[in-house]
Amino acid sequence: MPEPHQSPLPSPSPYIRIALPDDEEELSVLDRSTWSQLHAVMPKPQPPYRPFFDERHVPDDYLVAELDRRIVGYIRLALPTPLASNAHVRQIQGLAVADEARGRGVGRALIRAAVEEARRRGARRMTLRVLGHNAPARKLYESEGFVVEGVLPEEFFLGGEYVDDVIMGRRI
Ligand SMILES: CC(C)(COP(=O)(O)OP(=O)(O)OC[C@H]1O[C@@H](n2cnc3c(N)ncnc32)[C@H](O)[C@@H]1OP(=O)(O)O)[C@@H](O)C(=O)NCCC(=O)NCCS
Repeated sequence: MPEPHQSPLPSPSPYIRIALPDDEEELSVLDRSTWSQLHAVMPKPQPPYRPFFDERHVPDDYLVAELDRRIVGYIRLALPTPLASNAHVRQIQGLAVADEARGRGVGRALIRAAVEEARRRGARRMTLRVLGHNAPARKLYESEGFVVEGVLPEEFFLGGEYVDDVIMGRRI
């Protein structure tokens, strides 16, 4: 008898929530394991590692994505400046998904949740900066309605090459 055809199971949706102080260790490990010159402008972290959260990086500014109760991604939503005149804007200042959870819609779910959260906090515009050579992230942002608003040509020198810094934004 022929084997019954098995279609792939649909990926479960990640559970997205605001980060908690107790997420420190999991986020710290995730952040280090996802480091790459495709998106990071800081050198590869070396021990002793800096804490993930500090007075400028507070849990309330992060959304985390869980699959099977494990954190597989995060996004950081920050005020671009402390100015009252700039308070209607939120900037994505960090987005990472664990290697083994990529390509399953976690990044997209985090961006959508961040847009919702930014709206809830009263923002009407969202911005971000992405390296010119980061094709996966640029494709994701474009498909979620972000457009290129500016380019700083050859802003970073990474891995022996000059790389553009691309500014993207959208109304929310
Ligand atoms: C960018 C990143 C967050 C995407 O996360 P992800 O969970 O794999 O993304 P999703 O599964 O939600 O994919 C959504 C879309 O992103 C784009 N995308 C994701 N991976 C891609 C790849 N390797 N190549 C091209 N496009 C890609 C596609 O448009 C995809 O839509 P599709 O599945 O309908 O084709 C992830 O690759 C990552 O953590 N990269 C390292 C950190 C980083 O670059 N952060 C951004 C800093 S600005």
